[in-house]
Amino acid sequence: MTDPHANAHHTKLEILEAKNAEALLGGGQARIDAQHKKGKLTARERLDLLLDEGSFEEIGKFVMHRSKDFGLDKEYYLGDGVVTGYGTVNGRLVYVFSQDFTVFGGSLSETHAEKIVKIMDLAMKNGAPVIGLNDSGGARIQEGVVSLGGYADIFYKNTLASGVVPQLSAVMGPCAGGAVYSPAITDFILMVEDTSYMFVTGPNVVKTVTHETVTSEELGGASTHSTKSGVTHFTAPNEVACIQQLKQLLSYMPQNCEETAPALPYTPADEQRPALDTLIPDNPNQPYDIREVIEGIIDADSFLEVHQNFAENIVVGFARLAGRSIGIVGNQPAVLAGVLDINASTKAARFVRFCDAFNIPLLVLEDVPGFLPGTDQEWRGIITNGAKLLYAFCEATVPRVTVITRKAYGGAYDVMNSKHIGADLNYAWPTAEIAVMGAKGAAEIIFKREIAEAEDPEAKLQEKVDDYQQKFATPYRAAHRGFVDEVILPSQTRQKLIRAFKMLENKVDQLPRKKHGNIPL
Ligand code: HXC
Repeated sequence: MTDPHANAHHTKLEILEAKNAEALLGGGQARIDAQHKKGKLTARERLDLLLDEGSFEEIGKFVMHRSKDFGLDKEYYLGDGVVTGYGTVNGRLVYVFSQDFTVFGGSLSETHAEKIVKIMDLAMKNGAPVIGLNDSGGARIQEGVVSLGGYADIFYKNTLASGVVPQLSAVMGPCAGGAVYSPAITDFILMVEDTSYMFVTGPNVVKTVTHETVTSEELGGASTHSTKSGVTHFTAPNEVACIQQLKQLLSYMPQNCEETAPALPYTPADEQRPALDTLIPDNPNQPYDIREVIEGIIDADSFLEVHQNFAENIVVGFARLAGRSIGIVGNQPAVLAGVLDINASTKAARFVRFCDAFNIPLLVLEDVPGFLPGTDQEWRGIITNGAKLLYAFCEATVPRVTVITRKAYGGAYDVMNSKHIGADLNYAWPTAEIAVMGAKGAAEIIFKREIAEAEDPEAKLQEKVDDYQQKFATPYRAAHRGFVDEVILPSQTRQKLIRAFKMLENKVDQLPRKKHGNIPL
């Protein structure tokens, strides 16, 4: 005789299996096919690529929405349009959410939001990064304000988690309306070219309000946000490459604000880099690529540039030095002579703050002729925006080292991690020129009358320029004062920096007690 309980038990297992299979299908095979047809992966396929094989543990797989309006009482999908849980990336714990466009266009319902908030809470309590894969039509229109409340819950958590655990957002489809503000609060945004876009109001609203005709791609595609607005930090040609970028980015970061980033093994070797000795052109106005300096200092192939195509007059990114993760900020003489403008200042300030929040030491490579003059910059607030970078360096307590390769002029000298604002070690190359301004400009101002009255004003100007150049366009005045700790051969820079950061490894520094500072926004 068969045992009825065994049968019942068996049936219960079958029910679970059926539910699991149903959840895996999201909005159904037809919608999955439609997603593929657009050149997009599904929410689960993306997680498979991101997480170590077999490491994903799903949370909330059977969650369903609670809405009844507009036919929703007849349409339910297990998981409610977002796959959430935890897993590992290269063996390190991460929390993930991946929006499922096959379910109501990945739109955000009350329960969808609750699932995201739940894993963010876990991430904060357990100290691990949150990675969001965004692909959503925005607020679940049928739910109205309940959905808006769900967004606000996420924004609030994003803000509370900011500086506690790294938060990364990959945008792999639509991200429109107020939905953009969750990625915007996170630390890094990555966008996939051609299939993703972000905007507060779409082309139709734009057309109605401003009469501009613009495509989604032009308004808020990856290329727009990586070059014009700076909203995205990275772009990738496809989703696979985007997920690779996410993994690479994670490798430079600690799990949370209490830890340091993992280090790779390092075997000391000959650290001299002779090519650097001849890199700086004799003519101070001739450009060179700061990336060549970076490559000459860091561990081979370790540079991950952030915001590569935005405000290219400053270069920022992560690298490894003797296996350890560092953040690099370098003026770029090859673009606008490396001048600091509004975009360069905000780009670098945000990067400095991320590094400081997550214990990543900072290396500054300085060759800056000053701030960009002009009405455009002044009227758009170079004062406030330049102050962001100044403020970010001033409040950073991580190990901070500067190498002045050439120009360090005017206010920009102070701003670019000078000794005076708390840098730990400041080096200069013999090619450094540390002065209030370039020699010609300086001579024209302070010897104006003498030059005008001279028999040969040109010759007089040259004489004064040479004089100023000799006195100030060197690193030695600053070194005499101790504003520069050592003038070093470029070829020795890597060795010096390895030792410097090793020496600073246990640095402890604290800001005065306060609720929070008030960075000029
Ligand atoms: C409910 C939605 C939805 C939404 C899409 N769908 N967006 N369901 N709420 N917001 C559903 C569609 O009905 C459709 O269901 C499926 O998702 C796929 O959508 P399609 O339109 O067929 O896909 P596609 O042609 O690729 O277009 C995608 C889209 C478009 C551009 C995202 O769907 C769209 O414009 N959606 C509305 C966007 C929007 O206005 N959202 C509200 C923004 S305001 P079926 O059953 O056919 O598969 C907002 C405020 C947030 O988000 C505020 C936070 C503070």
